[in-house]
Amino acid sequence: MKILIINGPNLNMLGIREPQVYGDKTYQDLVDYITKIASNYQDDVTVFQANGEKEIIERIHQAYFDQVKAIIINPGAFGHYSYAIRDAIASVGIRCIEVHLTDVDHREPFRKVSVIRDVCEKSYYGKNFVSYKEAIDYIHQV
Ligand code: DQA
Repeated sequence: MKILIINGPNLNMLGIREPQVYGDKTYQDLVDYITKIASNYQDDVTVFQANGEKEIIERIHQAYFDQVKAIIINPGAFGHYSYAIRDAIASVGIRCIEVHLTDVDHREPFRKVSVIRDVCEKSYYGKNFVSYKEAIDYIHQV
């Protein structure tokens, strides 16, 4: 299956960024983890990271032309307020799963809000890297 994984702002700083919250594994560790899970399914997976809203929106648009079958997105903080990313997901009509490393429902109140959730089939969060595994497993089951 052709899958696009999008990681939003500050996720490139994993391993350095607030290790007490996000753990001590690096962004490259996350990419390696995702690649391994996807290879078990023989998926054609692309893992993309950007810190800018524009780059993420343009990558979602490109997924339409690339005939991507599923998008798994960790929007980082954009998930809490970017209606533009929400609309980009709705625009392309590609099934989308939201993931977060941390349990966003039990952190600061602003993290409880997800403006992309209504255009995503499912949300997995709070299990660190395993949140991505749950999303990959889900798209192969449903
Ligand atoms: C995050 C949660 C967001 O609230 C935060 O802004 C991030 C990371 C997560 O994966 O837990 O950047 O998406």
